[in-house]
Amino acid sequence: MARLKLGVLISGRGSNLQALIDAAADPAFPAQIAVVISNIADVQGLARAQAAGIPTAVVDHKAHDGRPAFESALTEALDAHQVRLVCLAGFMRLLTKGFVDHWRDRIINIHPSLLPAFKGLNTHERVLDSGVKFTGCTVHFVRAEMDEGPIVVQGAIPVLSGDTPDSLGARVLAVEHRIYPLAVKLVAEGRARVVGNAVRVDMPDGDHDTAAQTVVINPAG
Ligand code: GRF
Repeated sequence: MARLKLGVLISGRGSNLQALIDAAADPAFPAQIAVVISNIADVQGLARAQAAGIPTAVVDHKAHDGRPAFESALTEALDAHQVRLVCLAGFMRLLTKGFVDHWRDRIINIHPSLLPAFKGLNTHERVLDSGVKFTGCTVHFVRAEMDEGPIVVQGAIPVLSGDTPDSLGARVLAVEHRIYPLAVKLVAEGRARVVGNAVRVDMPDGDHDTAAQTVVINPAG
């Protein structure tokens, strides 16, 4: 079967992009990266794409007169590579309702918290201040409101006493690198479908039974 064509939008380091590049290097992975687009030139993520032989484009928001013009240029670049699923991976521009509606249910994002908790920036600092005992990361379909939309996959980890924003962020990031390829796989295989505000995921019976038994308690006692 043809692999789903991805367009990955970045603004910087691109470690989640790298996780997708590594996953897609397996010919059995059901998606391939058709283009990587950055709104900032010379970022590490672009170098990662180039090293993997993936086409890149820079669509600079400052070179466009307003957000709709910037976003038209994004859609033009995505369409030029026949992109069918847009993956936001550390893309630091807010997107208008027009763009998000155009790509509705064909655009996903990764966020470093267990949404709907801790939307926005500086999540790990706020997680630590709040005293919650678990945090994690979320891949979700994008809606016009920031960090909103049907959730595809979440990964949860315990918050440990002594954690700093950096130590917690590093453990969350390692989980991000696992769940983003998984979410793309589920969408590409047609196993993750948006139903209302949620995503129904088709899971093998065995995995469903295992998940039903899973409990993690922190502190363990
Ligand atoms: C990640 O923490 C992601 O969840 C957030 O931005 C960060 C991007 O990191 N949206 P990277 O560029 O993928 O390394």
